[in-house]
Amino acid sequence: MLLPLLPLVRWSAVLAICLVASETRADAGTNPRANPRTNPRADYLLHCSGCHLADGRGAPPEVPTLIAALGPIVASQEGRDYIVRVPGASQTPLTDEQLAQVMNWVLTNFNADTLGTNFRPLTGNEVGKARRRVLADPVRYRKTLWPEYD
Ligand code: HEC
Repeated sequence: MLLPLLPLVRWSAVLAICLVASETRADAGTNPRANPRTNPRADYLLHCSGCHLADGRGAPPEVPTLIAALGPIVASQEGRDYIVRVPGASQTPLTDEQLAQVMNWVLTNFNADTLGTNFRPLTGNEVGKARRRVLADPVRYRKTLWPEYD
């Protein structure tokens, strides 16, 4: 009697798994614990190198270099916030934790020579707060804070 119902039971199991999977994906944007995977180099190549190039040199003046220029900027809290508030960084599909890891990777790999000795790595929490305040006019903001770089 139950036999004809069996395929139905199986389909509902499949559906439940799909729902769980799609919920996990939706969470990944906001909840760092939903996706513990972090591979900052791969994330950089996937999400940043299209504009800033694989070695970080960008295409100035349109796309700034990420080499050496960021050390002095992240010496202040405004600067630490600024680098994740620029649209290319803040709007990336990476989680807060993944974005923090990518920036720390960019800072320690491309900016080792200019990074202060007291540099503390960015945290997911810090990045989360800053990136929600997206900069509408990053170029002007940068000029007001660090006129010496332009
Ligand atoms: C679509 C192209 C694009 C992508 C993708 C992109 N950026 Fe950018 N980025 C820019 C541009 C253009 C600027 C200059 C500010 C502006 O006009 O937004 C910039 C500015 C920056 C700055 C500030 C540099 C400075 O000296 O002022 C940092 C840091 C940065 N991006 C990091 C990243 C990281 C990390 C990623 C990947 C998560 C990323 N960007 C993805 C185009 C991009």
